[in-house]
Amino acid sequence: MKNLIEPHGSDTLKPLYIEDSVEREDLINTSKDMRKVLLNSAAAANVVMLGAGYFTPLSGFMDKKNAISVANNMLTTEGLFWPVPIINLTKDDKDLNIGDEIALLDPNMQGNPVIAIQKISAVETITNDEIIAMAEKIFGTTDASHPGVANFLSLGNTLISGDIKVLNYSYFPNDFPGTFATAPEIREMLVKAGWSKTVAFQTRNPMHRAHEELCKMALDRLEADGVLIHMTLGKLKEGDIPGDIRNSAIAKMVEIYFPENTVIISGFGFDMLYAGPREALLHAVFRQNCGCSHLIVGRDHAGVGDYYGPFDAQEVFELDVVKNSLKLEIFSADHTAFSKKLNKVVMMRDAKDHSKDDFVLLSGTKVREMLSNGQELPPEFARKEVAEILMKYYQSL
Ligand code: ADX
Repeated sequence: MKNLIEPHGSDTLKPLYIEDSVEREDLINTSKDMRKVLLNSAAAANVVMLGAGYFTPLSGFMDKKNAISVANNMLTTEGLFWPVPIINLTKDDKDLNIGDEIALLDPNMQGNPVIAIQKISAVETITNDEIIAMAEKIFGTTDASHPGVANFLSLGNTLISGDIKVLNYSYFPNDFPGTFATAPEIREMLVKAGWSKTVAFQTRNPMHRAHEELCKMALDRLEADGVLIHMTLGKLKEGDIPGDIRNSAIAKMVEIYFPENTVIISGFGFDMLYAGPREALLHAVFRQNCGCSHLIVGRDHAGVGDYYGPFDAQEVFELDVVKNSLKLEIFSADHTAFSKKLNKVVMMRDAKDHSKDDFVLLSGTKVREMLSNGQELPPEFARKEVAEILMKYYQSL
């Protein structure tokens, strides 16, 4: 059996989901008498990622010292590389006692069932100034029109830290059966496929032609065994295409246009942060936890608007703290576009004899814009089968 890359900061994956059904039922029963805290969606997404082993080796929510240290230096107080604070920030600050167990309720499910139990190790106040300072580090901006910043600034000022036990994966297994998977499950799929060199492709979009070709170029140039198309299934910003539509568009494209046994499609339950470079690093950490040796990082990875330079998310991987900590490597892709001269999708740096006018620029934003204006997607933009699925969705709005 070929060996997969080790998890981050640990020899083994540490999913916090309680596997034993009897223990889980017991915890659900005892949680009925516990103090309850309704999570915000960001914290609930953290719970799902912690439960599913993606956030190995973390054991729960960070305290203030750790959150600030991670925001400032990308290191926990114990020296573990971690790019984004994993925190349970709340407005619900009464009757929270150190040592108590509390029931964390899921904001994204009807009736707000319990999703996890947290043992409180600290309850700390974070001032608005401290939150703004963290936002600046994580998002590189404090502009409240940035969707990630707006959300971060709205979460509350009380930080509840402590280890958690996860009881379910929220709406993800039901809404995305066959797509949502945990980190151990993905490792199992890779082992079953016999892949040891796997390149992960992060996406929140139905895949347009540049996405498809990026995956094919990475497969080819890295001589990888396969590509894991790993999509964000959590909350997106207004106007992004919902998970189920994206899922069927991607499945169709892979079925028709990729060689057999070169692609695994899967998804993870996390809300988009739109944190550009910091989010790219988080993407890398949890792809390593899934057993992937590489991650594709292209133009404006996890970006939004004009907040980040097109290749900031690649450059951040050059920092010593990152190089010394991550085992996964990135496949840095240049802007990928359709060449009218060559009649195919290319990386722009590979087409040295081209001028700007020789390219049709491709982006998820452009695709969404065209669709919402009722325009058909030309073949340079999307495969016709993908375009049909997307068109049908936009007509249903
Ligand atoms: S993301 O927010 O999930 O990163 P998206 O689904 O648009 O957004 O992008 C997925 C990956 O493809 C990212 O690594 C991004 O940088 C890359 N990418 C998307 N479009 C292009 C393009 N035209 N050229 C180069 N890379 C691209």
